Amino acid sequence: MNKPLLRAFSISFLTALLAGTAYAQSGAVKSAGNVSNVQINGQQVKIATQNAFAEVTVYSPSVIRMRVDKQPLAADFSFAVIAKPQQTKATINQNDNEVSITTDSLKLIISKKPFAATFYTLDGKVISQDEKGLSTSWVNESVTTYKHMQDGEHFIGLGEKTGNLDRKGNGYTNWNSDTFGYRTDQDPIYSTIPFYIGVHHNLNYGIFMDNTYQSDFNFGASNNRFSSFGAHGGEMNYYFIYHKHLTDIITSYTALTGRMKMPPLWSLGYQQNRYSYYPDTEVYRIAQTLREKKIPADGITLDIHYMDKYKVFTWDKNRFPDPAKLTARLKDMGLKLTLIVDPGVKTEQGYPVFEDGLKNNIFIKYSDSTNYTGEVWPGWCHFPDFTGEKGRNWWHTQIKKYADVGVSGIWNDMNEISTWGQKMPDNVIFNYEGQNASHLQAHNVYGLEMARASYEGYRKALNNKRPFILTRSGYAGLQRYTAIWTGDNRAEDDHMLLGVRLLSSLGLSGVPFTGMDIGGFTGNPTVALYTRWMQIGAFSPYFRNHTGVNTKSAEPWAFGEEALEVARNYINLRYRLLPYLYSSFYEATQNGHPVVRSLAINYTHDQRIYSAQFQNQYEFGNGFMIAPFTSADTYGTVYFPEGNWYDLYNDALITGKQEKMMRVTTQKLPVFVKESSIIPMQSLVQSTAEKPTDTLTVHVYKGNRNNSFVYYEDDGESYNYENGTFYKRTIAYDAVKKQIVFAKAEGSLSSKFKYIKVQLHGFADNDKIALNTKSANTKTEFVSFLTPVSSFDPQGVINAAEGHNVKTITMSNSSNQMVLSY
Ligand code: GLC
Repeated sequence: MNKPLLRAFSISFLTALLAGTAYAQSGAVKSAGNVSNVQINGQQVKIATQNAFAEVTVYSPSVIRMRVDKQPLAADFSFAVIAKPQQTKATINQNDNEVSITTDSLKLIISKKPFAATFYTLDGKVISQDEKGLSTSWVNESVTTYKHMQDGEHFIGLGEKTGNLDRKGNGYTNWNSDTFGYRTDQDPIYSTIPFYIGVHHNLNYGIFMDNTYQSDFNFGASNNRFSSFGAHGGEMNYYFIYHKHLTDIITSYTALTGRMKMPPLWSLGYQQNRYSYYPDTEVYRIAQTLREKKIPADGITLDIHYMDKYKVFTWDKNRFPDPAKLTARLKDMGLKLTLIVDPGVKTEQGYPVFEDGLKNNIFIKYSDSTNYTGEVWPGWCHFPDFTGEKGRNWWHTQIKKYADVGVSGIWNDMNEISTWGQKMPDNVIFNYEGQNASHLQAHNVYGLEMARASYEGYRKALNNKRPFILTRSGYAGLQRYTAIWTGDNRAEDDHMLLGVRLLSSLGLSGVPFTGMDIGGFTGNPTVALYTRWMQIGAFSPYFRNHTGVNTKSAEPWAFGEEALEVARNYINLRYRLLPYLYSSFYEATQNGHPVVRSLAINYTHDQRIYSAQFQNQYEFGNGFMIAPFTSADTYGTVYFPEGNWYDLYNDALITGKQEKMMRVTTQKLPVFVKESSIIPMQSLVQSTAEKPTDTLTVHVYKGNRNNSFVYYEDDGESYNYENGTFYKRTIAYDAVKKQIVFAKAEGSLSSKFKYIKVQLHGFADNDKIALNTKSANTKTEFVSFLTPVSSFDPQGVINAAEGHNVKTITMSNSSNQMVLSY
C-alpha cells in the first residue's frame, strides 16, 4: 500500500473506530455484541454475548424460538402460547465463528461476531436474515430485531390491521385502542396479533413476536433497509416458522397459539342487531318481522340499553321485566339471544356487583393498592382483573346470571380497556398470572383475558353447551375462546372493502371466526351499499347486521323491496350453504385454516394478488372465490388465479391466470367456484333450529386438479364431538382416475341426511356416470342459487335468477365408501 493510500486508510479506519465507539458509548442504542459463551443442551442453545443473553429452542422441525434479553433469561410465561417444544431431531454444532442448528425442515446459523441469526432452507436459500450491524438491539428499554429486507418481499398478516393486504412500506403499532369510526388507514385499532408472514423468492415464513408490551412493526416504512419488530419493554421473544406452503405456516402458528373449538351452529346463522333494541316489545317486533318476511335468522343481540343505567349484570326492569320469558319466546321462534357485556363495574354503593367485586378484591389497582377508577358508559368504574385466576373466577360467578335466564351468547365490548378512548395511567397494576405487571405490559392482553373469562365461565354455566363469545379486543391466541368483530366501522364503501381485508388478515393470523358490522356502524348506508354489504356478509364467518345509536333503521326491510329481496336471496343462500360452512369451521378446528382466505393463502407467489386492484378478493372456505366491489361499480375486473373457475350463477367456465372485466350489479355478488370443488348444501330453513329435508345436495365441479373436502356434522351444540360423537367423511375429487370418492364415514353419529344428491357441474352429456362401477341413472336438473328479484333491469343483462342444467344423481347416504366414476 503506498503512503497516501495508507494514510487515507488509517484515517477512515480511525474515524470508523471512533464513530463506532461514540455510537456504542451513546448508551441509548445498544446491540447484543459478540458471542462470549455457548451452551448446547439437547434442542436448546444458551448463548451469552457482550451485552445480552439468548436462548434458542427448537419447537418442531419448522418452528424455532428465539429469546434475547439484556438480563439473564428467567422462566417465562405466555398468555398466547399453549404449545411446549416437541421432541425434535436437531443437529447443533458450533465453531469459532458460528452456531448451526439443523432440523429436517430448516437450518439456522447464528454468527458469533457479532450475534446475528440467518435462517436457511436445507438447500441453502436465505429465508430470513438479521440485518447486518443491527440484528437484535435496544434503544433504552425498547428491544427490536431487524431483518434484512429481501428483494420483492411482501408482508401479510399482523391481525386486525388497516391498510393494504401487502404491508410493505408501512409501519404498525400494537396498542389496543377504542377507535370509534376509525379511518381506513388508522393504526392501531382494537386488537393485537404480533404475527406476520413474509413472502419472497418463492419462499414464505412466519414470525410471531410474543411480547405484550406496546409493539412496533416496520416493513420498510421510512427506511429502505430492513423489516423490524420490537416492543417497548420485556424481552425479544419470537417464533420463526418455515414451511414450503403458507397453509402449513398457519397450521404451525395455530399449533403454538391454539385453535378454535366448534362454534354453536346457531352462531353461523344470520344475527340481527342494533344499538339498541328496547324494550322487549321492540325485540319481539324485530323477531316477528324476520319471520313474517321470511328472512332466515338465528339470533338477536341486545346492546347496552338492556342494562339498568349501563350497569353490567343488571336488567332495566321497565324495558325488560322478564328476561327469562324473553329468551323463551325467542327460542320458540328459533332465535337465540346474545347480550353485550362491558368490563367496567360502576362504583355505586348498593350495586351488588360492585360490592361483591370489592369484597372479593378483584379489581385492578394502583401501586398503592387502591382500586383504579376510570370513566366509561355507566360513569366511574372499577375494572375486574381478568389477567389473574381470581378475577376470572369472580367473572364466572357473575356471568352465570345470564345463563340462568337463557341467554346464549356473550358479546365482550370496551375491553381494550376503553375509558372513553382516553389514555389510561401506566402505573395501574394487573395480576398477570401472579406476576404483577404494570398497565404497560398487561394492556394488550386484557381483552383476550376478558373473552377467556367469559368463555370459560359461560361454558360452565351452560353445562358444557357451546357458548357463543364475541370480543372487540384481543391478543394472539384469542381464537381459542372467541369470535372477533372489527368494531365501529363506517357506512362507507371503503370501509366495507377494508372490512374484507381485516377479515382476511385476521384469517392469516390464526383467527377464523370473524365479522364486521354489516351495513356500517356510524352513518347510514345507501341502498346500494347496504345491499352489497349484506351479500358480503353472507360470505363472512360471523354474519351480523349492526348499526349505531342514532342511525336509521338497518334491518333488511328498511331499504325498500329490492334491497330486501336481494338481502333475503343471500341470507337464504347462506342457510343452504350451512353444511359447507360448518365443515369449513371444522377444518379451522383441525388445522387453523381460516374461513375467509386471502388469495395469498393458496396463491402465495402469484404477484398479481398483492396489487391494490385485486387485494380484496378472497376465498370463502375451500371452494368459493368472492370478488367484492363497491356499491358504485358498474363494471369491475376480477383476477382469476391459476386453474379453472366457474361463475356460481351460470356455470360459465373461466380459465385462470387472467384478468376479466365484467358487469357488476347490486343484485349479485360476483362469486366463483374453483374447479374440482365439492360444495355440500341443504334445503332452505328459517333458522338452524329447523330441520332441513333429508337430502344433502353435494355440488361437484368438474376440474383438472385433485381435491378433497372433509364433510362434517355433529349435534351443533355440545362438546360431545370431542369424544367421537360426530359424523365425518372425506369426499375426494380425483381428476386422474375420474372419480368422486365418498370415503367410509367416521364417528359414532349418523348423518342427519338420508340421501345424497350429487349435482355435477361442467360435466358433458356423454360423461357416463357409474356408482360403485354400476352404470347409474342420472337426471338433468335445473339449478339456481338465487330467486328472481322483482326490480326491472333496464339493460336486460342481469337476471338474478339465472341458473343452469346439471347432471344429477341421487343415492342413499350409506356410510360405506361410495365411488362415482365418469
Ligand atoms: C361500542 C361498540 C358498539 C356498541 C356500542 C354501544 O361502540 O363497538 O358495537 O354498539 O359500544 O354498546
